[in-house]
Parts: sequence; C-alpha cells; structure tokens
Amino acid sequence: MATLVTGGAGYIGSHTVAALHDAGRDVVILDDFSNAARRAVDSIRSLTRSDLPVVEGDAGDLEVLDAVFDGHRIDSVVHFAARKSVAESVSDPLGYYRSNLGSVISLAAAAIDRGVPRLVFSSSATVYGSASAPPVTEDSPTVPESPYGETKLMGERILADAAAASEMSVTSLRYFNPVGAHPSGLIGEDPSGEPANLVPRIMQVAAGRRDRLEVFGADYSTVDGTALRDYVHVMDLAEGHVAALDAAMTPASSRVYNLGTGSGTTVLQILGAASEVIGSSIPYEMAERRPGDIEASWADCTRARDELGWQARRDLAQMLADHWNFARQQSSC
Ligand code: WQD
Repeated sequence: MATLVTGGAGYIGSHTVAALHDAGRDVVILDDFSNAARRAVDSIRSLTRSDLPVVEGDAGDLEVLDAVFDGHRIDSVVHFAARKSVAESVSDPLGYYRSNLGSVISLAAAAIDRGVPRLVFSSSATVYGSASAPPVTEDSPTVPESPYGETKLMGERILADAAAASEMSVTSLRYFNPVGAHPSGLIGEDPSGEPANLVPRIMQVAAGRRDRLEVFGADYSTVDGTALRDYVHVMDLAEGHVAALDAAMTPASSRVYNLGTGSGTTVLQILGAASEVIGSSIPYEMAERRPGDIEASWADCTRARDELGWQARRDLAQMLADHWNFARQQSSC
C-alpha cells in the first residue's frame, strides 16, 4: 500500500516524501510541475528509491486521479498541490478558488469513492489573519485576509464535511513559516519564478543574485520594530505529516493542528542569524510595510504535542544553515 502525495515535487511535499520514505512508507507522487522543478524528481528518488512512482498531472483532474488510483494501491493521501501566493490570489481570486477548491473536492471524492481511510491536508496559518493576538491556538478565530487564506479555510471545512459523510478521516495541518532544507542539500525551496518570501530572498542576496534585502516595515510594536513570525524547519513540518498519518483517528472524523515552533522571530533577528550562518553581512534597507502583512504571528502547538506526539526539534540556526546549504548549491549549478 502507498501514500499518494499531491504536489510531492514541491517544497514541503518533497521533504514530506523523504520523511514518509524514512518512516517506511511507500509513496506515489502526483504533481503538475507548475511550481516545482522536474529536476527535483531525480533528487527525491536519490533520497528515497530510484523507481519512486511520479505521475505528472493536475490533482483536480478526475481522469488523472482515476488513473492514479487504478494504477496504485493507495491507503492514504497527503494533499499539498495548490497555488499559494497571497498576492497572486488577490489579483486572481477566481483562479485560486477554482484551482485550490476544485482539487480538494475532486481528490476527496476520488479518495472516498476508493475507500481510502486517511487524508492529511496542507493548510496554513494564514487562516487566522490578524484577528487574534499570538500565540494562536486551533480554536482561535479564523478570519483569513486573502483569497489564498480563504481557500485553505474552506478546504478544511469541505474536507471535514466530506469526512463526516464517509468513512474517511481528515487531518488539516496549519503551517506557520516554513524554512530550511533537507540536510543532504539535495532538495529545498526551489520555486518557479521570483520568490516573495523572506528567507529565499535573503539567500538570493547572499548568493549575489539580489543586491539587497528590503525590510518591509520598521514601525511595528515589536522588540526592533520589524514584523515577527514563527519560522519552522521544513523537516520538522515533514515529520509532522508522518505523525498525523500515524495518529489513530476514528472514521468520519476530522482534526486541525498548528505546526510551528511556538516562538516568534523578527525580520532583523532573521537577518542577524543568517549573517552568522553565512559568514557575511546581508545588505538591507528599510522600506514601507508590505500591504496585507500582519505585525506578529506565532503558534501555540500544545495540541500537536499532546495528540500527535510532535514538536519542532530544529532551531533557527539549523533552519538557516540547511537553507543556505541548498541555496548555494543551486547558485553553483
Ligand atoms: C515574512 C516576514 C514580511 C520579504 C507567507 C504566506 C503564508 C505562507 C508563508 C503559504 C514578513 C517580511 C518578506 C522581504 C521582508 N505560505 N519580508 N522583506 O508573509 O509571513 O507568509 O509565506 O502557506 O501563507 O502568507 O512570509 O516570508 O513573505 O514574510 O521584510 O523581501 O518577512 O513583511 O513580515 P509571510 P514572508
């Protein structure tokens, strides 16, 4: 039996495939490579098995899903495949609702139709918006502030309703800010196009592919005036998916978990830690706040610790060292 990982060639997906393999699970990847490099497949196979099945296709396409379920014995699904740019979702809301919710509905229908008992859904801390002062728990108000965040919250609700009407159980994982890479340096964050996120941009500056970092906002009510986030190692996140699949769940049930470290770090603190790891200063300049940004966000992860036995184990220095190890290899190739 195998776990179907949609978006399995992407950033968090590829690391989860490696963690599932290390936990003794067989995996089938489904990816349309819209936001993942095909070269990642060779790296993933070198970390897992050379014949790891990879199907190219859209996770919302019922014919593609039929072919996957007909061709492989699938006993669980981890669903990553989604468009994930907050800014892009604001300019193309219908595209985001069609794509992200279409794949949730089609995949859940196919999985239930085939009697698949377990599904883990890749959600996001953006479902909380800025409505709650951190640390946020899974019971904090969810008020997304972008169509992207709405697709994640609606996805959770669609899957919870689908589970309740079937024998499937669903676990939704709300990630905070993923950072880092596999210790081998063979897989990491390698988005198609220009990154919008902080750490990939810092790494571009360090690798000489960007002149300097713009720090978006220096007037927040934080220790140094810059915004604060809960950065979590992508390998810790990957292991959180294994823990979610391993956890006992009653059929027709659903559960939501925060995956973070439980502590916050400011932009300037990230810059300082990155300079330490890279061994050189990172040129930056203060700039205006970025529209849509919130001041502070970090998680309360008590539920994942108590119910999944999961806690983030890797610290900020490890996150940045592993991220840099991958990024500089990317720059040299
Ligand atoms: C972090 C901080 C920026 C770039 C987003 C998505 C979220 C999730 C993770 C998918 C903020 C500041 C950034 C830069 C900066 N993705 N920053 N200069 O916005 O917290 O979360 O990515 O699930 O859904 O919303 O992450 O890395 O973009 O920003 O100062 O060039 O770094 O203002 O305070 P964010 P980020």
